[in-house]
Amino acid sequence: MGLKQTIANQLELVRKNSLSLLDPLDNFQLTTQHSPLMSPLVWDLAHVGNYEDLWLLRELGSTAYDPSYDDIYDAFSHPRSQRPSLDLLSPEKARIYISEIRKRALDVLDKTSLDQPKGSVDNSFIYRLVIQHEHQHDETILATLQLMKDPLLSPKPAPLLNKVPTQDKETLIPGGYFRMGTDIDPWAYDNERPSYEVFVEDFFMDTFPVTNGEFLNFMLDQGYSNPQYWTDKGWEWVQSGNIKSPLFWSQDSKGSWIRNRFGWEEAIDPQEPVQHVSWYEADAFARWTNKRLPTEVEWEKAASWDPKSNSKARFPWGNADPDDSKANLNHLRFGPTRIGTYPNSVSKYGIHQMIGDVWEWVGNNFTPYPGYQSFPYDEYSKVFFGSDYKVLKGGSWASSSQVARNTFRNWDFPQRRQIFSGFRCARSI
Ligand code: AVJ
Ligand code: FE
Repeated sequence: MGLKQTIANQLELVRKNSLSLLDPLDNFQLTTQHSPLMSPLVWDLAHVGNYEDLWLLRELGSTAYDPSYDDIYDAFSHPRSQRPSLDLLSPEKARIYISEIRKRALDVLDKTSLDQPKGSVDNSFIYRLVIQHEHQHDETILATLQLMKDPLLSPKPAPLLNKVPTQDKETLIPGGYFRMGTDIDPWAYDNERPSYEVFVEDFFMDTFPVTNGEFLNFMLDQGYSNPQYWTDKGWEWVQSGNIKSPLFWSQDSKGSWIRNRFGWEEAIDPQEPVQHVSWYEADAFARWTNKRLPTEVEWEKAASWDPKSNSKARFPWGNADPDDSKANLNHLRFGPTRIGTYPNSVSKYGIHQMIGDVWEWVGNNFTPYPGYQSFPYDEYSKVFFGSDYKVLKGGSWASSSQVARNTFRNWDFPQRRQIFSGFRCARSI
């Protein structure tokens, strides 16, 4: 199949995905704001079209579909909390708006030479930008649906049983030089580039993500009430929010912890990766176990490096695209799967489930790689660099396989936990 056909198929797939996530919702559910942390869903819907108008039609087709919507759907000028007060397109009009833009994007695809250089990338990247952007908003939509807690909106998936024993809890990653980031991945955003060499000391990485059962032990050991495990800001956050458990957890009448997943009240599976924890909680848990969060460099090395060939792969298992035997992605299960479920997911060092299941907080702030250059615009990454945001790696069960890769960088505020976030720990030798 030619590249143009592949891109056309990927555009069609992501649009089907976006529309099917929103299909069960009525107009009230689409236009109301379910949480100040999230946009009204109809904003996300039209925003993906506006992004395509802005970055694809105008960059490659040189004509705008309708610039009058640029301000309303500009994420940077309107924070999520303010979006309900904007004069948003109705759900019906938003659907027409995005499909008209998509028709033009396909016309432009027909006429454009994809290998034409475009800054440090080429024209084909603009299509990948638009495809990935819509997938990322689909994950944002899923986080909003989770906050709505309406069991009618999502299926209850069958749990998967783990297949391999899970005894060896930590894996030694021997020190050495490693190449961080990428210069060649055709999907890589500006913040994944350029690659650079970095020396990594020996360290131990948790073989699996931290589970609900392990996190419960932290709770039972008074982890949330002991300031010694928390940074100053983390302790302030725990106290002011009266935080006692991961988000969406509560206690039933007998005092057992249960969780709400898309409206379903469920027993907490001790073998599943813990989800909906903030960076502060991840960091505190790590200290409680006398460990720490891995750095982003350690995480990416453990995920991507093949010490035998001194080369880097796109996924922990190699360069083959993810499928259902390797990673829990594409919201197939509407939740994480038990540790040990994916023996085929292992990295060259033997680390499991680094891609999919839960986003993994790493220790460091979201900062640019040496030699970073923004493209195609500063507001994707550059304006977020600094000490306000922490990095998350690996993608979650809600991430698209078109987004999840070893070099991908997600970021959020350290207090955020409506996202599908978990973590694993590391320690120095
Ligand atoms: C990379 C998830 C932090 O949602 O703010 C969507 C992705 N950028 N539209 C976000 C994004 C522009 C971004 N995150
Ligand atoms: Fe966006």
